[in-house]
Amino acid sequence: MTGEARRPEQPVAGARPAGLALYVHWPFCAAKCPYCDFNSHVREEIDEQGWCDAILREMAHVATLQSEARPRLDTVFFGGGTPSLMHGQSVERIIGCAARLWAPADDIEITLEANPASAEATRFADFRAAGVNRISLGVQALNDADLRFLGRLHDLAEARAALALAIKTFDRVSLDLIYARPNQSVEAWKAELAQALSFGTEHLSLYQLTIEPQTPFAIQHRQGAFLVPDDDRAAELFEVTQEATAAAGVPAYEVSNHARPGAEARHNLIYWRYGDYAGLGPGAHGRFTIGGKRIATVCERLPERWRERVKAKGHGFVAVDEISRADGARENLLMTLRLAEGIDLAAFRARWGAAPGRGRIADLAEEGLVRLESDRLRATPRGLLVLDAVIAALAD
Ligand SMILES: C[S@@+](CC[C@H](N)C(=O)[O-])C[C@H]1O[C@@H](n2cnc3c(N)ncnc32)[C@H](O)[C@@H]1O
Ligand code: SF4
Repeated sequence: MTGEARRPEQPVAGARPAGLALYVHWPFCAAKCPYCDFNSHVREEIDEQGWCDAILREMAHVATLQSEARPRLDTVFFGGGTPSLMHGQSVERIIGCAARLWAPADDIEITLEANPASAEATRFADFRAAGVNRISLGVQALNDADLRFLGRLHDLAEARAALALAIKTFDRVSLDLIYARPNQSVEAWKAELAQALSFGTEHLSLYQLTIEPQTPFAIQHRQGAFLVPDDDRAAELFEVTQEATAAAGVPAYEVSNHARPGAEARHNLIYWRYGDYAGLGPGAHGRFTIGGKRIATVCERLPERWRERVKAKGHGFVAVDEISRADGARENLLMTLRLAEGIDLAAFRARWGAAPGRGRIADLAEEGLVRLESDRLRATPRGLLVLDAVIAALAD
């Protein structure tokens, strides 16, 4: 993905110290999209209750690891896979368990990722009744030919109907689109984006199509079945995306995420600000603090193996590692420099005991890769394109 983010001068929402963000991975989909390398699987039958039991067990285990009694729970995010294939009752059980183990913030944000097929849309009211207050709808494209190319199970009419229902049901709606598709002209994308913006959602996630290794798209692409935009075209598409979203009042606050000021995804902001998040379910990752130490957790990726592990051990973790200061500082830079608000170096220094040196910053600034203003470090659009190299230079 290429990147150029507009820089608001003020930090976005969420300046208070964050509580816990809880991620719940539902790894099942009705069909596998040919571009997708998320941990998502198609199964003939799903014992939904059994899978939820395992999630609840792993959740209880995470809570026992934390030394503080009932830390504040700021956000819950049901991601996938396709969590909108779950029933409202399952979502309610998971939210209820989280609310007993942690202390939900008064303004807790509970997001669920939904596919816009009609069967899933009929569950929106149940999700809302279960406590979900934000929905992230994977529309992906606004024309039938591209939806077919992307292997989606929904067409445009279904997507529009699901979106209208989502807007009616939830106060907070986000829309996902994938752009920089084969043969997509700048003009065509501008028109499609204008249509997406006309829906008036407070948040949009706009991703450039990435050809992920080991996916059917990777094979087709290698065989020359289609071409994706070259770097120059991708950069141009990115630029028009930044301009159109900013003009519509939903500027980028992260490389691919756009929101009305104050409507940013608080869950994702906790990741990007390198706060505490726990990941439950197959393949989920977590980063949270136990007794002053920051811990990295990784769950077994294959759903059935994860479930076996939970049965045997009470959790599906295949790795629980303490993060060293150097690795923590590096990860913090990598995550937070994605944000338009950048990094407050004084806060960074207070957290990690050191911050990137002035000399390094000056060298990178001279190359046009970062900007430093009032002790706040930001990646420039060019810097975002080579963020790994920027971090390596800063952390050196
Ligand atoms: C966890 S995924 C999918 C959520 C939901 N199952 C769906 O398909 O709408 C979250 C988002 O990542 C984006 N995404 C997934 N694979 C991608 C790829 N190869 N290139 C660009 N965006 C991708 C899609 O926009 C998708 O909505
Ligand atoms: S894009 Fe969404 S629906 Fe498609 S396979 Fe990936 S997670 Fe499943």
